[in-house]
Amino acid sequence: MVELSVKGPLELLRGPVALSHLFLRERVKPGDRVIDATCGNGGDTLIMAELVGKLGKVWSFDIENEALSRASTRLIAAGYSSWVEFVAAGHERLAGYVSESVRAVVFNLGYLPGSSKENATRPETTLAALEQASRLLIRGGIILVVVYTGHPGGAEEGRVVEEWATGCPQNDFNVWCSRMLNRQKNPPYLLLIEKMNA
Ligand SMILES: C[S@@+](CC[C@H](N)C(=O)[O-])C[C@H]1O[C@@H](n2cnc3c(N)ncnc32)[C@H](O)[C@@H]1O
Repeated sequence: MVELSVKGPLELLRGPVALSHLFLRERVKPGDRVIDATCGNGGDTLIMAELVGKLGKVWSFDIENEALSRASTRLIAAGYSSWVEFVAAGHERLAGYVSESVRAVVFNLGYLPGSSKENATRPETTLAALEQASRLLIRGGIILVVVYTGHPGGAEEGRVVEEWATGCPQNDFNVWCSRMLNRQKNPPYLLLIEKMNA
């Protein structure tokens, strides 16, 4: 696995995950509180832990214990684990675990590659989590959602998430959608929701 680090050179923008990291680097600062709503192998958690540093805090959610365990090993190896709280619960219960305001919330939807598609994110729980995340954001805070539509249920989830994002009031949120135009076969894309008024 390639170890990502904000200390290294910028990643090439080969897809929406790299683009989401570019926004994280721009927005997240030492001492910030942030959430990884879909921990998986911990790639996004690692980047955020590095950005917030030891005065900050990362909550990282997943329903798969195997994912949390792999991510935790990675964060311990990087020396960042003491300011990361891994939460073995669905992100739809996010507000039950996080009561502080946060600068960023990252969703990397779908299923963990190499794992069961049964554990893919689902429209109803993703929506519940997005709603809670939007309330926890500080002014200038961002939600980043990488949407995959190629797997069963993915297109429906993408439709529901886009509908939710489109409905965010324009006086309170800036909502962006970034798609690669030169990719074949349902390429993933990025939604960015920035809160203007806390
Ligand atoms: C595409 S992977 C995330 C990849 C991850 N960000 C990384 O850097 O490796 C999606 C993850 O979402 C998790 N997931 C599915 N439903 C969830 C839920 N309700 N709450 C939290 N995580 C969930 C899956 O178990 C899977 O690990």
